[in-house]
Amino acid sequence: MNVLILGSGGRENALAWKIRESKKVDNLFVAPGNAGTELLTREVNGKTVGCKNVAMKADDFDSIKKFVLENDIEMVVVGPEDPLVKGIYDYFKNDAALKSIKVIGPSKEGARLEGSKDFAKAFMMRHNIPTARYKSFTNETIEDAFAFLAELEAPYVLKADGLAAGKGVLILNTLEEAKAELKTMLTGKFGDASKTVVIEEFLSGIECSVFVLSDGKNYKVLPVAKDYKRIGEGDKGLNTGGMGAVSPVPFADKTFMKKVEERIIIPTVEGLAKENITYKGFIFLGLINVKNEPMVIEYNVRMGDPETEAVMLRVKGDLVDAFEGVAAGDLDKRTLEEDERTAVTVMLVSGGYPEEYEKNKVITGLDKVKDSIAFHAGTKMVDGKVLTNGGRVISISSYGATKAEALAKSFANAQVIDFEKKYFRRDIGFDL
Ligand code: AMP
Ligand code: GLY
Repeated sequence: MNVLILGSGGRENALAWKIRESKKVDNLFVAPGNAGTELLTREVNGKTVGCKNVAMKADDFDSIKKFVLENDIEMVVVGPEDPLVKGIYDYFKNDAALKSIKVIGPSKEGARLEGSKDFAKAFMMRHNIPTARYKSFTNETIEDAFAFLAELEAPYVLKADGLAAGKGVLILNTLEEAKAELKTMLTGKFGDASKTVVIEEFLSGIECSVFVLSDGKNYKVLPVAKDYKRIGEGDKGLNTGGMGAVSPVPFADKTFMKKVEERIIIPTVEGLAKENITYKGFIFLGLINVKNEPMVIEYNVRMGDPETEAVMLRVKGDLVDAFEGVAAGDLDKRTLEEDERTAVTVMLVSGGYPEEYEKNKVITGLDKVKDSIAFHAGTKMVDGKVLTNGGRVISISSYGATKAEALAKSFANAQVIDFEKKYFRRDIGFDL
């Protein structure tokens, strides 16, 4: 079958790398993709099949429709949250010509688990899913919000209800700062996204990312990962899209994961079904381990980036077959296993990121990478040269018998690949 992946980051490069492994795939397309997805090739029955980029935005539904019909696409795998929150699943299912196409991702209603923090918190309350105590407020109820803040202890957690490009969560150390920030949020700091603000109790612990693939009834838990969000070593400095990831996560052992499954995964999948919310895709649980008790920090409705660049290395089995199970509702009859090895990924970023940085720097050394996989994030191909095209540039993923062994390979290749003002964290996995 022909498969279309939507998105352009390291996550989509890693998904494309895994998907093209499937014997079920004839042609693979990525929209808009990056230089890495364009470079992916494979052998099928003795001939080389490429992975083609399509110049179209991941949320341009009308262009996607045209492309899908013209190219006989049977499956669409949605990478980022934007198209999901905008309702790409419903767009397909409500169109007679597109209805039969398998879309891997939740319905618009299901995507509210990520698109609205208030919706996600209320959902967790309805289904008794462990999460931080919270209340939601608007500018009309700002006085009540101040009173709620005064009840809590520092630090204070303020979350814009809607999508704010990953910047919508603020953690403030004093009550005064929290009140001031709350005011700016409710009066438009993040536009409509912060017209409603969730204020919640601060939870202290170590975080991890749990990925679940669900057909709305059955589910499979993928390898657990931990990502490193801060720009600086020792988790210091500004938040980024993610500087690296490690899988597995030692503290997410059998006992911990049993709690996650019983208290979080099952109530989430059953809760969605009970509320008649169509959900055929990934559920990403951002969890925090509070004294060995898992609590939900957030839901996302997609895979994580850069977690995917480590997790896909550890998924054994035919992911496309599992996706067919998601679409057909018989995921329980499909098999996905976990590779025993450790996988890590180390992100090379442009100097200055996550603040201002330059683009269009030539990337060299990609052909000299040994014992790792270089997944492209912000890159583009111009006249046969690979250029930087974003803050996060290349994610170097490696296997190892141990975390140290895998990291040594990624760090060695982080020296081999080069571009002007390259930066990466040398302490990925330091706290595991
Ligand atoms: P989110 O965008 O919801 O993932 O939040 C960004 C980050 O803020 C999370 O990854 C956590 O590190 C932190 N965070 C969010 N909510 C809380 C909380 N209730 N307690 C402590 N840290 C939090
Ligand atoms: N790495 C976290 C995320 O993708 O949101």
